[in-house]
Amino acid sequence: MELFQAVTSRRSIRKFKKDPVPEALIREILDAARWSPSWGNTQPWEIVVVSGESLERLRRANQQRILDKAIPEPDTPMPGIWPETLKRRYTEVGKRVLTSLQIAREDREARDRYTADMFAFFDAPCLLLFLVDKTLSREYAMLDIGAVLQTACLLIHARGLGSCIMAASVSYPDAIREIVPIPEGRAVIIGAALGYPEQDAPINRFVRERATPDEFTTWVR
Ligand SMILES: Cc1cc2nc3c(=O)[nH]c(=O)nc-3n(C[C@H](O)[C@H](O)[C@H](O)COP(=O)(O)O)c2cc1C
Repeated sequence: MELFQAVTSRRSIRKFKKDPVPEALIREILDAARWSPSWGNTQPWEIVVVSGESLERLRRANQQRILDKAIPEPDTPMPGIWPETLKRRYTEVGKRVLTSLQIAREDREARDRYTADMFAFFDAPCLLLFLVDKTLSREYAMLDIGAVLQTACLLIHARGLGSCIMAASVSYPDAIREIVPIPEGRAVIIGAALGYPEQDAPINRFVRERATPDEFTTWVR
């Protein structure tokens, strides 16, 4: 796939086919993703590929936490306050997701079902977890994780798979640690659901928005 096309056509996938992702394909993707840049070539990322029975257990545990209204305690705290423009954007994407599923704003039960589905990683057959050593400066490590994560998502897309980067997958790291052997001293930064996309599902097809370059670029000559 041509690179510009890959970047602009990659999108978050929230409905997956049941088909498992061949291990060889994940290995090929990770083998290319390791060429991502990092501070001083430190390559601080560690990736855990979760599938099979372990993923089913994690799915249930993570979903149960949200159904129990457990307070999320991610290893990297989520900001509570957002500037107005940014808040408008994430509210808008939430609306588009619900509209694509024909869920009315006031339908609390349907919205809760959607949230439960999200905390079950949209039933994806695979979940990639990205870890870093807790002793690292988190700010810099996040840049490196961001680089490898986006590279992986593009490669995933280039191979006809789909991904959804998911804060919801790491909201309850205690659930992850119960099921997945996370080495001592590692922070679980982010997860990405991975699988074959249900191409025709409206949730994978709604129109996305982006600011134009003029809205975020200043040219200094
Ligand atoms: C750090 C991060 C966390 C995210 N967490 C979630 C999540 O928990 N649930 C979800 O449905 N999408 C999540 N997303 C996906 C974003 O909503 C998505 O990237 C954004 O709306 C832009 O849409 P696109 O990826 O389809 O272009 C996350 C994305 C990032 C980068």
